[in-house]
Amino acid sequence: MHMIEAVVKPYAIDKIKAKLSELGIFGCTAIECKGFGKQKGHTERYRGARIDVGFVPKVLLKIAVKSEDMDKAIDAITSSARTGSVGDGKLFVYSLTKVVRVRTGEEDNDAL
Ligand SMILES: Nc1ncnc2c1ncn2[C@@H]1O[C@H](COP(=O)(O)OP(=O)(O)OP(=O)(O)O)[C@@H](O)[C@H]1O
Ligand SMILES: [Mg+2]
Repeated sequence: MHMIEAVVKPYAIDKIKAKLSELGIFGCTAIECKGFGKQKGHTERYRGARIDVGFVPKVLLKIAVKSEDMDKAIDAITSSARTGSVGDGKLFVYSLTKVVRVRTGEEDNDAL
């Protein structure tokens, strides 16, 4: 199992959710956040306005997936979030050692 953390532009999250659902991947935590990448935030636009501070509004998505679903989940995220402009986002992937579904007690792949 893997945890995908994707920092994306806020407008992209509905499309990402729809594509993941099409793939049968359900479950995501979305956290409003701010960040900067290689441009240090200075040259990015947000809702048409130039952001003049060092941190630009983003959404951090945390998505736990079965290992077999990792590649298609990454494809779904990147194809939904890519505009070709700076600040489209970045993904980080971690190995995940444990998942427990609280209601049923199911674990790991059965809980995803
Ligand atoms: N090295 C990093 N560590 C942690 N978070 C990062 C890192 N790089 C980018 N981020 C997060 O991802 C967001 C989007 O990054 P961004 O897409 O601007 O990356 P980039 O490397 O500058 O690529 P681009 O040149 O396409 O803009 C940032 O606002 C920040 O929240
Ligand atoms: Mg950038």
